[in-house]
Amino acid sequence: MKIAFFSSQSYDSKSFDALKSNHDLTYFTENLSVSSVKLAKEFDAVCVFVNDDLNADILKKLKYYGIKCILLRCAGFNNVDLKEAKELGLSVFRVPAYSPNAVAEHAVALIQTLNRKTHKAFNRIREGNFSLEKLQGFDIVNKTVGVIGTGKIGAVFCKIMLGFGAKIIAFDLEESPELKAAGIKYLPIKEVISKSDIISLHCPLNNETKHLINKDTLNLMKDGVMLINTSRGALIETSAVIGALKSKKLGYLGIDVYEQEEHLFFKDLSETIINDDEIARLTTFPNVLITAHQGFFTNEALYEIASTTLKNADDFMNGINTVNKLV
Ligand code: NAI
Repeated sequence: MKIAFFSSQSYDSKSFDALKSNHDLTYFTENLSVSSVKLAKEFDAVCVFVNDDLNADILKKLKYYGIKCILLRCAGFNNVDLKEAKELGLSVFRVPAYSPNAVAEHAVALIQTLNRKTHKAFNRIREGNFSLEKLQGFDIVNKTVGVIGTGKIGAVFCKIMLGFGAKIIAFDLEESPELKAAGIKYLPIKEVISKSDIISLHCPLNNETKHLINKDTLNLMKDGVMLINTSRGALIETSAVIGALKSKKLGYLGIDVYEQEEHLFFKDLSETIINDDEIARLTTFPNVLITAHQGFFTNEALYEIASTTLKNADDFMNGINTVNKLV
């Protein structure tokens, strides 16, 4: 099958080419958008990532150009109009779990970097400053960690935080008996938000969860709370979070995802004027740590993404339906 990759980076071609599949793979660096969709002409399938836009118009164009299959090389599918894809008869596959550990461990890295300020210590020591002033952190043991969404990633995160000796409270639409047995207590979402010292978001983005963190929910939080988001940017209303940082309601913010990340992330914009005033403001706070959607970015996850995506392509050709097929 001829597969056009969008938003591809050097590590994508490296991990996919290493598997030597029978498919014909072409890598485009462009995001899939109205202006780039024509690149899909004469291909059988497109392989896309988190910031590629698969709205109804783009799906119609893909169908017109002869695309039969959409291969998401990620877990989240909030960027695809699945209803339209189904109506057009386009098959959509995803990689439901490539490494829950990669993302959960990154969430912990954000917590501990913000807490123990290792990023600041690194710079200080390189400049000959061995002072400890303003590097003070806190013990995680006995702190209350609130987890919203205890699916694959949230569950790993809960287990890691249990290892730190934290008390875990959680909210999910479905409670996990395994996590309950491990000592995690499920509570209504408002209680999780109001009782936690650290809140970590691990639920998907959908109509219900968009701007889950807003002015009202921020007001419920403890003063000085740490908020971590490795899930999807629009779970957080950025302007409300900026307000909460200014008023010191939020003590720390660690984000691997950002509401308008499609204009910024995965690109080197170091010589460009950034027009996004909210990200510019966020980068000025000393207690904010931003990574550019790198939670998934481990050797193990890249291998899993490539092997599962190529298996999804094989399954499509062989007419095999698996749980990876969304429509
Ligand atoms: P999952 O589907 O295994 O778990 C999601 C959990 O959220 C489920 O238990 C579900 O019941 C729960 N949920 C759904 N609606 C909810 C609501 N309104 N409130 C609370 N919980 C709700 O998904 P997984 O693999 O754990 O991924 C979670 C999210 O992490 C993905 O949706 C994706 O957006 C994000 N992600 C981020 C990556 C990164 O590199 N930063 C990489 C992979 C995923």
